[in-house]
Amino acid sequence: MVVPIELAQTQSITYDITIDRLPQLTFNTKVVIVTNPTVAGFHLETLLSKISAKELHIVTIPDGETYKTLETVENILNECFTHKLDRKSLLIAFGGGVIGDMTGFTASLYQRGIDFIQIPTTLLSQVDASVGGKTGVNNTYGKNLIGAFYQPKAVYIDPEFLKTLPTREFAAGVAEIIKMAVMFDKAYFEFLQVANLNDETVLKEAIAKSVKLKAWVVNQDEKEAGIRAVLNYGHTFGHVVENETDYATYLHGEAVAIGMVMANALAVELRLFTQEEAEKVKALLEKFSLPTSYHIKDVNTFYEHFFLDKKSANNSIKFILPQGMGKYKIVSDIDESIVKKVLSRFGGAQ
Ligand SMILES: NC(=O)c1ccc[n+]([C@@H]2O[C@H](COP(=O)([O-])OP(=O)(O)OC[C@H]3O[C@@H](n4cnc5c(N)ncnc54)[C@H](O)[C@@H]3O)[C@@H](O)[C@H]2O)c1
Repeated sequence: MVVPIELAQTQSITYDITIDRLPQLTFNTKVVIVTNPTVAGFHLETLLSKISAKELHIVTIPDGETYKTLETVENILNECFTHKLDRKSLLIAFGGGVIGDMTGFTASLYQRGIDFIQIPTTLLSQVDASVGGKTGVNNTYGKNLIGAFYQPKAVYIDPEFLKTLPTREFAAGVAEIIKMAVMFDKAYFEFLQVANLNDETVLKEAIAKSVKLKAWVVNQDEKEAGIRAVLNYGHTFGHVVENETDYATYLHGEAVAIGMVMANALAVELRLFTQEEAEKVKALLEKFSLPTSYHIKDVNTFYEHFFLDKKSANNSIKFILPQGMGKYKIVSDIDESIVKKVLSRFGGAQ
C-alpha cells in the first residue's frame, strides 16, 4: 500500500509512504545509512541485502534519547564529510524516532540540504515520527527545541522489523495509534477495540490507517499552524508526567496514554466527552497494557509545569480535547480552577 504525501499548500513536495515488505532499492549515488547498534544487530543484514549504491557507508550512533543531541548530529555530519558526500548523496534513517529525527535534521544541514529516506523500525516511528517531516534534537532547554521541517524523499514501512521490538515499545506506538483514532476517526477506534495487532494483516491495516490520517493532517498543515496541533492530544499532560518522573519511568507513548486519560477527564468535566466514552478509551489503552493512572503529588506544581511546554505560548495553555469519539476541539481559555479540580482527581494536594 502506498500513501502519498502532498504538501501542495506550502510547497510542491510529494513523496510516497510505502507500507509493505522493504523492496529492493538501487541508488546511483553515495549512501550513508544512519542506525544504532540495537537496530543494526537485529536488522542491518536484511537492509544491506536490499540496498545497492554507488558507495555505501554505515554510521552507527549510540542508542537512546540522551544521544539525540547536536553533538551526535555533528558526528554524523563529520562522517558525511569524511566520506565526501556531495549534494546528490543520500542519507537513510534506519531505526526508531530518535534516529529518524536526527538523520532528517542532519540531511537538512549537510551542504544546505541533501536527500534522505526513512526506514522506521519502531511502531511509534512507523505510525508517527517518520511521517510529516519534523526533524530535530533535544537540548538542555527541552525536547525537540532545535530542528527543521524537512521532508524525506520516501518512507518505507515494513512491519516485519517490529518482530524484534520489546513489548513496551510496541505498546508505546499503539498509544499514538489510539490518539489518532480518538481525535479523528470513530470507526477506526471501534476497529481497534476488537483488533488483534499480533496478527500481521491487522497490524498492517492499523499502520496504514494511522499513516493515512497523519498524512491527511500534515497535508493540510505542514508547519503546525492549525490542525497538526491536534496530534498533541494527550501530550500536554503527558509531557508533565514525563518531566515529573525525570523521563525515567515512562516511555513517551506511555506518558501520552496517561495524558489522554487526563485530557479525557477534562473533556468530561467540560461536557465535551461522556464518562462512558472516557471509559472506552481507558479500556482500549489497558487492552494494550498501557498505563492509565498516575498519582499527582502536587496539583499546583503539575499545573505550573504546563508552562514549560513550548506549545503553551503566551501563558495560555492550549488543550486538545475529544469532542465526542473521533472529533476534536482545541480549547485555550479553560479556567485554572477547572483544570486544577480535574487534576486533583488524580491524587495530591492543591
Ligand atoms: N518527528 C516527529 O514527528 C516525531 C513524532 C513522534 C515522536 N518523535 C520522536 O521520536 C522519538 C521516539 O521514537 P521511538 O519511540 O521510536 O524511540 P527510539 O528511536 O528511541 O526507539 C526505541 C528503542 O527501540 C529500539 N529499536 C528500534 N527498532 C527496533 C527493532 N525493530 N527491534 C528492537 N529494538 C528496536 C531502539 O534502538 C530504542 O532502544 C522521540 O525522540 C520523539 O521526540 C518524533
